[in-house]
Amino acid sequence: MYSLDATLFMNAVVLAVLGAAALVLLVTLFAAWRGKRGRVMSYLYMFTALLGTFAVAVAALGFRGQKSDARPWHFFLDMKYQAKYTAQGQSKYFADGRSSRLPPADTVPFDGTDYTADAGAHSAPNPDFLKADKRYYFGIADASAKENVNGADVPAKPKWEGGKLVGEGYWVNHVPPAAVERAGGWEPLFKRGQVQFNRHCAVCHGTSGRGGTGEVAYGIVGAYGLSAPPKNVLDITIQTQPDGMLFDTVSNGRGTMPGYGHQIRDALDRWAIVAYVRELQFAYGSGK
Ligand code: HEC
Repeated sequence: MYSLDATLFMNAVVLAVLGAAALVLLVTLFAAWRGKRGRVMSYLYMFTALLGTFAVAVAALGFRGQKSDARPWHFFLDMKYQAKYTAQGQSKYFADGRSSRLPPADTVPFDGTDYTADAGAHSAPNPDFLKADKRYYFGIADASAKENVNGADVPAKPKWEGGKLVGEGYWVNHVPPAAVERAGGWEPLFKRGQVQFNRHCAVCHGTSGRGGTGEVAYGIVGAYGLSAPPKNVLDITIQTQPDGMLFDTVSNGRGTMPGYGHQIRDALDRWAIVAYVRELQFAYGSGK
């Protein structure tokens, strides 16, 4: 197999034709100067005219399809050029030269409290800004812990030995202490989780978490049917999942279930849901 740069190839073709045009022109001029006549001469004139027309066309249209850094011609400007500042651009108007301005004091962001996690005006460094605590913000214990299942790299499972959990895999095994601490203890964490679960999850999984569709649905949405039934979160397969994986399901979804990280923005609320799912599992067993 060989490959060809289309642009280079077209350049070569065009150059060859232009070269031929120049050559024919020279030959014609030379022949005319020598005073030649007849059939040969008329052919020469014809070729010169044809190739000359082609050369003029190329000269007028340019090598179309080429890349160029030059600004294109704009006959209809529409709204392409506007007197406006772009993000991070410079401004001659403001003394500090920045076009992006800090919001005035006491501005209330329209999308919730997450403003405290952005680069706005803060009196002290914000440790949460970069979400460096992977355990707390992502439920990940060791992002490099992967295992090969049927030829695909998947998050490694937690380590068990003699029926005991002895080590973590990819996900954190347990709700991180930071979450319990921020909630003010386990009790408030469970309460918080109950509120959040009933608000966000119960529509599909039911307040008991048992999910299902149709006649056997525990959630409202499931009663009307879904392509995949909301899973029974009390199921033994979910009971044995590490907490970090549950946290990831809540944040980013799994299978046909959508993620809720964008709605349940505070990681603490998502950990509270995880804790509450564990409480449901403890209360109902596997829900059978
Ligand atoms: C729009 C309906 C809907 C909502 C709301 C919803 N789920 Fe789900 N959930 C599903 C469906 C459907 C599945 C099954 C997905 C599949 O198997 O493809 C599922 C699966 C799950 C699973 C099993 C994932 C796995 O490992 O197989 C868990 C755990 C779960 N949901 C927890 C939750 C929690 C906690 C919430 C609240 C934040 C929630 N769900 C909100 C529909 C929903």
